Amino acid sequence: MSVRIAPSILAADFANLERDIREVVSADLLHVDVMDGHFVPNLTIGVPVVRRLAEVSPLPLDVHLMIEDPDHWAPRYAELGATSVTFHSEAAKKPRQIATDIKSSGARASVAIKPDTPAEAVMELLGVVDMVLVMTVEPGFGGQSFMPETLAKLTALRAAAVEAGTELWLQVDGGITTDTAPAAVAAGADTLVAGSAVFGASDRARAVQALRDVCQL
Ligand code: DX5
Ligand code: ZN
Repeated sequence: MSVRIAPSILAADFANLERDIREVVSADLLHVDVMDGHFVPNLTIGVPVVRRLAEVSPLPLDVHLMIEDPDHWAPRYAELGATSVTFHSEAAKKPRQIATDIKSSGARASVAIKPDTPAEAVMELLGVVDMVLVMTVEPGFGGQSFMPETLAKLTALRAAAVEAGTELWLQVDGGITTDTAPAAVAAGADTLVAGSAVFGASDRARAVQALRDVCQL
């Protein structure tokens, strides 16, 4: 199975984003972490910067919203040109409606769960969302260690999607390296976010290829 690789610009040089993005064009998606300092204890970028990234990025934008009130904000990111918009289950008031709104604004809809949130929290959204993001670290910061206890949720979600006959992308985010990616893929993940493992490498294109290579099953 071939996997999708999504380098996270959280680990890139924020003063040279366009330059850094050009170094990872061999990837499949560009992962953009939006944090509001409330849902997570960190603050990154918002609508104006993501709008500009959508204009200059040769890769489709995979926007990960770690913010409160995704009911209002998620469709706005879809409208400004993101290919995929992920909102957190824990912050959503009406997750079905958010997914519908994202899709009617032209993007793929995705729901994320934190490490302590069970897979059951999003089971009823299979068939509504295009992707589930299983966080493999606590959201908020790059460079943390992969939490292997999250693997069982990937297995459960993949099995449920297969049983329902639903095509579902399953994304992992946090601590993904050439050491941890194979276990995530074996458990059912097909879309890998990697921040430090890609942008922390001196040869970013080679780091993307290295992740692909270790996931060839
Ligand atoms: C963390 C972010 C991640 C982060 C991953 O909350 O959602 O996308 O950039 O960074 P690494 O790959 O370094 O764990
Ligand atoms: Zn992320």
